[in-house]
Formats: sequence, C-alpha cells, structure tokens
Amino acid sequence: MSKSLANIDPLLSAVGLAKSYNSKTKAVEVLADASLEVHSGEVLGIVGASGSGKSTLLHILGGLDRPAAGEVLFKGRNIFSQGSDYLEEYRNRHIGFVFQLFNLLPDFTALENTMFPGLIANRDRKSVQEKAEELLGLLGLKDRLHHKPGELSGGETQRVALARSLVNQPELLLADEPTGNLDTRASEHFLDLTRKLNEEINQTFVIVTHSAKIARSLDRVLQLADGQVKPIGKELIL
Ligand SMILES: Nc1ncnc2c1ncn2[C@@H]1O[C@H](COP(=O)(O)OP(=O)(O)OP(=O)(O)O)[C@@H](O)[C@H]1O
Ligand SMILES: [Mg+2]
Repeated sequence: MSKSLANIDPLLSAVGLAKSYNSKTKAVEVLADASLEVHSGEVLGIVGASGSGKSTLLHILGGLDRPAAGEVLFKGRNIFSQGSDYLEEYRNRHIGFVFQLFNLLPDFTALENTMFPGLIANRDRKSVQEKAEELLGLLGLKDRLHHKPGELSGGETQRVALARSLVNQPELLLADEPTGNLDTRASEHFLDLTRKLNEEINQTFVIVTHSAKIARSLDRVLQLADGQVKPIGKELIL
C-alpha cells in the first residue's frame, strides 16, 4: 500500500453506524456511532472482544444487514439509498465476503462453489470457470477442484471460500475471522496468500481477527469496543 493516505478518497467509509438487537428482556446496543474508512490497496484489521459487534459491522459494510442509523459510502455512494438492484450488484460484484463459518455448499465441488458468484452475476460460464480455476490454482488447490467440502481439510475449505469471494474480482474483500478454525500453519498460509493478492493485484482487505499475531502483521488495525471503532497501536494488541 502507498503509505500516505491523507489526500486519497476512501474506497469505503462508514459514518455514525448504529445497530441494536432486541431480545425479549432488553435491547442489546452493538454499534453506537461507529465510523471508519477503508482505503484502496490496504489490508485493514479489525479486532475486538467476542460479542463486541465485529461480524455485525462487517455484515453492514458488505450490505448484508442494514444499520439503524448512519451511512455506508462506497466510492462516495450511500449503498443503502440506491435501491435494491444496486445493493444486489454491490454485494455480488464489488464486495467479496469470507464468512466466519465459510458457508460452502456441501453438495458441490470446490470448483462449483468457487464459480457460484460468477454464475449468479450472469457472467459467461467459460470465463467464470477459467477465473475460478486460476484462483484455486493460485491458492494451491489445483488438485482439489472436484472435491466436495466434506473431502477437504479445514485450511483447504477456507481457501475455497477465499477463491469464491474473489471470483468476481471485487474491489473490496471482507473476511470475518477467516483463520478462526485453522491451525498456526494454515493461518500463516492464509496470511501469505493475503499478502500475495495485495501485492500482485492490489487487493483491498478488511480482516476481522482474534489473532494478535495476524493483527500485528496487517497494514493498519482498528478496535471495536463499546460500539465504537478506534485506531489501536500494534503494541496494544493482546
Ligand atoms: N440476531 C441477533 N439477535 C440478538 N442478538 C444478536 C444477534 N446477532 C448478534 N447478537 C448479539 O450482538 C452482539 C454482537 O454480535 P457479533 O456477532 O457482531 O459479535 P462479534 O464481535 O462478531 O463476536 P465473535 O468474536 O464472537 O464472532 C453479541 O452480543 C450477540 O449476542
Ligand atoms: Mg463474529
């Protein structure tokens, strides 16, 4: 990433986000005036205690959930005020999402799972397949194209989820605890792949992580606490 961000418009910005969940007994306020910016070409980390609202925040940034107040601007456009067609296109074309539990379809192969977002976007099947094979190859899965999720290791499953999230060449990749279920070696491998994609195609990432080691290795880290997002120095990440 170019390290001077001062005069560059953010790729994505969130301003004053609020979100609560109503349970029977009381409302849980998860986000309260949360704001952040994501710049093109950076690998941004988000840390915070379990239950602090990281997944909630990421889902709102990805247009999967709506905030009660506040705005999400992608290249300056409010994603929630453009109509449902735009929101669908935003989710499908501009954002890649790696879910906390990967969410691969069990009855389909690695290749088919990777191709889905491209087919949903009505892209030409052949070019989607070529892109999916290229990504799976890049992620070291050339020999696992026809394996179903049940026939893959945890690290391989996660790499398929990463390939799937990249198949439509999104400008921004949002990853929710992508290494949460992996051992140290697989986590490091994931991080190497992140770096490689960042260096080779300038892929922008927002990565939610519990791992202090991973967080410290990222370009910039924000902490979510008490419903708000604040920068955190790397020496303070525990
Ligand atoms: N659908 C829901 N209804 C009610 N409460 C919810 C709902 N979804 C999340 N919550 C609550 O909102 C809070 C934030 O949840 P969220 O999943 O965003 O946390 P998180 O920071 O991602 O946690 P973790 O690190 O454990 O994944 C939690 O206390 C959770 O119990
Ligand atoms: Mg979470």
